[in-house]
Amino acid sequence: MKKGVFISLEGPDGSGKSTQLTQMKMLLDKKGYNCVATREPGGTVISEKIRGLVLDKEYSEMDCRTEALLYAAARAQHVAEVIKPALERGDVVICDRFVDSSIVYQGYGRKLSREKVAAINEFAIAGCMPDMTFLFKLDPEIGKSRIEAGTRDRLESELTEFHSEVFRGYEEMEKLYPSRIVGIDAGGSVDEIHSKVAWHLEMLLKEKYDACRY
Ligand code: TYD
Repeated sequence: MKKGVFISLEGPDGSGKSTQLTQMKMLLDKKGYNCVATREPGGTVISEKIRGLVLDKEYSEMDCRTEALLYAAARAQHVAEVIKPALERGDVVICDRFVDSSIVYQGYGRKLSREKVAAINEFAIAGCMPDMTFLFKLDPEIGKSRIEAGTRDRLESELTEFHSEVFRGYEEMEKLYPSRIVGIDAGGSVDEIHSKVAWHLEMLLKEKYDACRY
């Protein structure tokens, strides 16, 4: 039975999610919560191996269905080995990217369709969905310019059109799931963004953990 709170962070490449994840983890540690900070693709030995495969620029021949299934496979292992056990213990889990990344990158970016990508992921996550998702909204071109050209992985190296579709996907998801997805303007300073995130986080934790006491 799930007792913890599950939060995912989403946004285009270079939107500052990872910096915000570090800040959130520090805040929760300070407040005395047991907090697990993790990332996708990755988070377990098997999932990190899949990450190496799926992000390697060598494999330009990778079919987009293979890509979608690999992300889903990495996620299934991550959920089973890390996320679900942590939620069962009552921990707060913060995950840098989760199922929405697959929906927008593979569903919209690769044009596999939102429904098809959602279906394979439904199987992979076995009902384990985030309680809240922070969507860091930043023009994908600005995001891309923050990542040095030589260090871009297979997905980050995609063309502008791909990243525009990804962003369009995020905006549609935000409209479709307004009670779960919280859009945050990622154009401000790290502190400004963090204080907005912290406010929503506090509300969520209050609601979830206080409700468990009764
Ligand atoms: P990463 O270096 O972790 O990027 P970021 O710091 O922006 O999160 O690389 C992950 C890349 O994989 C990123 O370009 C998004 C992509 N991705 C998908 O296409 N589908 C997915 O399901 C996930 C989790 C990531």
